This record gives sequence, C-alpha cells and structure tokens, in this order.
Amino acid sequence: MITADEDEPLHVLDLPQLYTKPTAIEILKALDHLAIQPKSFGFGARDVARRKINSSGVTEYLTTIVSSSLAWLDSDDLREQIWDVAAARLSERAGRTAMPALTRLFHIPTSSGEELALTLHEPSLTSDNLGMKTWLSSYLLSRRLDSIFESVPELVRSESSTSSTSTRLRALELGSGTGLVGLSFAALREASASIHLTDLPAIVPNLTQNVELNFDLLQKTNAEVTTGILDWSIHPTPNPTKDELYDVILAADPLYSPDHPKWLVQTINTWISKGLDARVVVELPLRDAYAPQVDEFRQRMQDIGLAIVEQGNETGYDDWEDADGQSMEVHCWWSVWGWSEKF
Ligand SMILES: C[S@@+](CC[C@H](N)C(=O)[O-])C[C@H]1O[C@@H](n2cnc3c(N)ncnc32)[C@H](O)[C@@H]1O
Repeated sequence: MITADEDEPLHVLDLPQLYTKPTAIEILKALDHLAIQPKSFGFGARDVARRKINSSGVTEYLTTIVSSSLAWLDSDDLREQIWDVAAARLSERAGRTAMPALTRLFHIPTSSGEELALTLHEPSLTSDNLGMKTWLSSYLLSRRLDSIFESVPELVRSESSTSSTSTRLRALELGSGTGLVGLSFAALREASASIHLTDLPAIVPNLTQNVELNFDLLQKTNAEVTTGILDWSIHPTPNPTKDELYDVILAADPLYSPDHPKWLVQTINTWISKGLDARVVVELPLRDAYAPQVDEFRQRMQDIGLAIVEQGNETGYDDWEDADGQSMEVHCWWSVWGWSEKF
C-alpha cells in the first residue's frame, strides 16, 4: 500500500482509504505508522527509523476512521481495536497532555563513559498532575549530576557534618514526579548515599512503582532509595531534628504557580542541613510566563542565606513533537546553592 519514493514524506493519500474497504491489518499498520514517538529530549534519541509523514490531512484521516462504522470488517473486536488506536493517534496529535500512559527508557551518560538506563512509567497526564510526565529539566539535571559532584567535592558527607553515626550522604528530592533525577542520583552515588524521593499524594504511587521498576539497577549500586509525600505548602510539626536534615536537596522544574517560590524555599530552609557543605541543586526551564517566579525564587534563596556556588544555562529539546514534527527548543538554568558564610 505504501508506494511513494522511500525518501519522500508520506501523504495521507498514500495510506489505505476507507472507500477501498481495506483489511483491518492494513488500517492498523497505517495507524501504527502515524504514531508520534517520544524523542528522548533530542539527545541520544533512539527513535525508530520510519518514513516521515506530511501532517496535512492526518487529523481528518483519523477522524474519518473514528467516525466510520467499518461495516465491511467481520469482527466487533477488530472494529473496537481500530477505533481505540485511531482515537489514541488523535490524542497524541493534541500534544503530550493528551497522551495515553507509557513506559519509557531514559539513557543518562556518565563521566565514566557508561550510560545509566532507567525505566520510567508515565501515567496519562492531566493538567493538575504534572508529575506524571518526565520533564526536560529533570533529564538535563540527571545528565549534569555527575559533573556537579566532580566540581563540588564537598558534596561528600564528612564524619563531622552530623552527629549521626551514619556517614551516608543524605539527599532529598522535592517534586520528584516520575523520579528521573532522584533515581539517577542513587545510581551515580552508589552505596555512599541515601535519597528520599518526594511529591504530592497523587504522584507518589507511580513514583514508588518507578523505584521498583529500577530495582535491578539500584541493587547493583546499593544506594538506599525511599519515597514519600512531602507537600511544600504544609509545614512539618514538629520541625525536623538535626539528624533528619539533608546534605543535598535536588529539584527539577518545580516553579509554575505564584505560591511555588515561597513554598519551595520554605521547604528547602526546613530540610537542608545547616553545615557549610550542604548543597541545593535546582534546574529550571526559563519559560517567559514563569520569569517572575524564577526571580522570586532567587531572591528568597538569598534572603534565607543561600548563595549560588555554581550555575549555568543550557538548551535542550522537548521530547514531544508538535503536529508538524518540530521539537521545541527549551532554555534551562541550573544552579548549585550553598550557605553564604556571611550568615
Ligand atoms: C513540572 S513537574 C516536574 C517533575 C519532575 N521534577 C521532572 O522534572 O520531571 C512539577 C512537580 O512538582 C510537584 N509539586 C507541585 N506542587 C507541589 C507541592 N505543593 N508539594 C510537593 N510537590 C509539588 C508536582 O506534583 C510535580 O511532580
């Protein structure tokens, strides 16, 4: 059925047309070809090699299938399957927010030349459950963790930095979402660290499942990984004891509401150790709409006595193409904070 020159993008007219009464297999093959693939944020993408398709007319093609009775097919099950797949393809073309659930493999390069391969499940996303998707900043921060550790040697817990008998570096991730940053941290730090991955109640079950999905990788590294609810809008009572504080706090893409800078900085202030070697590592996408939140976050961090130790900008590509097959360029800012000696 697909006859055009292999180098040319396909057009919907190259796909089986319903008036010719194609078989169920032919329709399902065409629908498979129309799947929009996640691009692993444009780095080391492992896209399936497939012919590009000209997006013009695709939505109409899919709508025709969804609204057709498919009367010439002899099985209700096949008709249902085709309607379901065509509806899913329409959702994909409406953007990531309408995507069905999926499980993805993320490859994080390390300074040793090896790659960490992490498997993350992403349930179907709704606008108030943004932690169900893995965001670009968390991918960029995961790639950067290794070099941050190298350039900031203090990020190793010293015996004197706590009264606790444990010398494991204690790390906390805020707004973990699907857990990419926290799991990368655990895999990189190996046995010398423990990390607590946290988020809102609706997000934590999937986060916990993702820790389990990576059981084999984590067993090799022997790092201790736990998950739990930590809502930035709620202050803990009583305050944490010295031993409950963390040496490192990590957060990727945590600011997208006017309350977030205040809540996030209060939470950081509550949970970060007061030792001079404590670090807060944050990566934020620089979206115009949230520029005031980024400015407020910087100011509030300084107000509590934290100062930037290291920072930089980097650019990545969002993992979902728009309907024309274009990846969105996203500029991000990463920063490492420590206690200012002035305080
Ligand atoms: C844009 S997502 C980023 C998720 C993940 N860090 C990533 O980059 O893939 C923001 C995360 O912050 C979490 N979040 C939002 N408000 C929160 C709050 N009040 N307390 C804790 N987590 C919150 C969301 O549930 C979501 O997981």
